[in-house]
Amino acid sequence: MRLQNKNAIVTGGAGGIGRATSLAFAAEGANVAVVDLNAEAAEAVAEEIRAAGGSAVAIGADVSSEADIERVVASVVDGFGGVDVVFNNAGIIRRTTAVETTVEEWDRVFGVNVRAIFLMCKHVVPIMAANGGGSIVNTGSGWGLKGGGQALSYCASKGAVVNMTRALAIDHGPQGIRVNSVNPGDVDTGMLRDEARQLGQDQAGFLAEAAERPLNRMGQPSEIAAAVVWLASDESSYVTGSALVVDGGGIA
Ligand SMILES: NC(=O)c1ccc[n+]([C@@H]2O[C@H](COP(=O)([O-])OP(=O)(O)OC[C@H]3O[C@@H](n4cnc5c(N)ncnc54)[C@H](O)[C@@H]3O)[C@@H](O)[C@H]2O)c1
Repeated sequence: MRLQNKNAIVTGGAGGIGRATSLAFAAEGANVAVVDLNAEAAEAVAEEIRAAGGSAVAIGADVSSEADIERVVASVVDGFGGVDVVFNNAGIIRRTTAVETTVEEWDRVFGVNVRAIFLMCKHVVPIMAANGGGSIVNTGSGWGLKGGGQALSYCASKGAVVNMTRALAIDHGPQGIRVNSVNPGDVDTGMLRDEARQLGQDQAGFLAEAAERPLNRMGQPSEIAAAVVWLASDESSYVTGSALVVDGGGIA
């Protein structure tokens, strides 16, 4: 198993990509802390892992809050004994242009998509460094690399994720910590389906458009999880600062 006895934190662990990755980490032998704003849904994922014979705990937290991040990291260190892998994956999207976006929405998107990654790294890097290293994977987006329509704050935040990943990799590579981003295209999750609602579009038509790419379909959460497992594991031991695109082709 590729993550045997590794201690992992997955944020947004109750959502589509986070749940799939929590399950995949556990199947590879990791102890998984499933972190989500929705504590009940996080507990359901942790229970699903334990029912399959794996090791998991659920922690309810708002990742944009430093107090919550400190509580998450302390609780994982207490419970598991350390942190080897972090998947900074919690994210939100607002499908609005600059003209339509409120300052509050802008700040919330940056709080969840960007500040949370800074906060997690601030508190987890010293623990990883003291233990000889680790692997951090941040969820960017195809739209963080090429931009997209009616999602200004989201595109800006995901561009920040891609470049902060490179900066983190430069700062903490000497401590044995690898930092990479995974950049999905359209993946069939609650977030994607909610975008149709935000845009006032018919969901079936919206999803059909999302499938228009060389592989002719949307991605499945498990296909992003497989890439994250690879980045988290020693199989990617010479990979850091990279922006791995997993999108069925054609967006970057
Ligand atoms: N689905 C896609 O097409 C797609 C494409 C590119 C990138 N992404 C990115 O993938 C990541 C996961 O998205 P998903 O598609 O699985 O969506 P999702 O909505 O299914 O999951 C997101 C999870 O994050 C949690 N969350 C939201 N705000 C939080 C907060 N403040 N603190 C803690 N948890 C919080 C939600 O409760 C939810 O469980 C996001 O960063 C998203 O931007 C998704």
